Amino acid sequence: MLIFINKETNMFIRLKNIILLIFLSSCLNLVSMQMPTRIAICVSGTGSNMLAIADAVKNQIITNAEIAVVISNRRAAPALEKAKNHEIKTAYIPNTTENYSQALIDCLQKNNVTPENGLICLAGFMKLLDKEFVTTFKDRILNIHPSLLPAFPGLDAIGQALAAQVTKTGCTVHMVDEGMDTGKPLGQTEIEIAPNDTHETLEAKMHTAEHELYCRVIEEFINSKAQK
Ligand code: GRF
Repeated sequence: MLIFINKETNMFIRLKNIILLIFLSSCLNLVSMQMPTRIAICVSGTGSNMLAIADAVKNQIITNAEIAVVISNRRAAPALEKAKNHEIKTAYIPNTTENYSQALIDCLQKNNVTPENGLICLAGFMKLLDKEFVTTFKDRILNIHPSLLPAFPGLDAIGQALAAQVTKTGCTVHMVDEGMDTGKPLGQTEIEIAPNDTHETLEAKMHTAEHELYCRVIEEFINSKAQK
């Protein structure tokens, strides 16, 4: 009889422990799911995409994320001034910096942007990232390019499309690898080129499409990471 009671008590304790373990692990999952993604935005130019992303985070169009820092390789980039005006932390890493990748990694680490919690969004960042950086932040770097890749990679994609006299172009958000605009595309938006479009008018259309696309892809990207 005593043995029987002991067995039952034992089983009860085991069951209690299992339930406790399941409860604790789901609590842990919940905590890690709620940790906001730390977004770093790398810029060299005017910063309209950077502002669109920052606004989308602020207005909860991009959810469960925060802007950690805006980094530029150009001190005079208007994007830096815009970020400061929006009370976003900024950093400047000049092109002349020895071992640029390491300097970038150090800056990200200082701002608590890690390969586990971070997302690096290139938005008009005129610098090719090397293998060391891309490997460190594997699957965590996005870029926006003003063409329907693989068409018109590289510099002045808008000018390239106009020179080629195509009637349609667009923008692409893609993963970043070591190549120039060669990473896997995550989203594209098409834009009609009107016969009277100039570089300026097409660029304006491009920016409108880019802002919507980039924010939408970032939101989808963060959600897909959270589900893994
Ligand atoms: C965008 O057209 C983007 O596609 C390209 O550089 C431009 C940056 O514009 N990579 P902005 O600085 O975001 O206004």
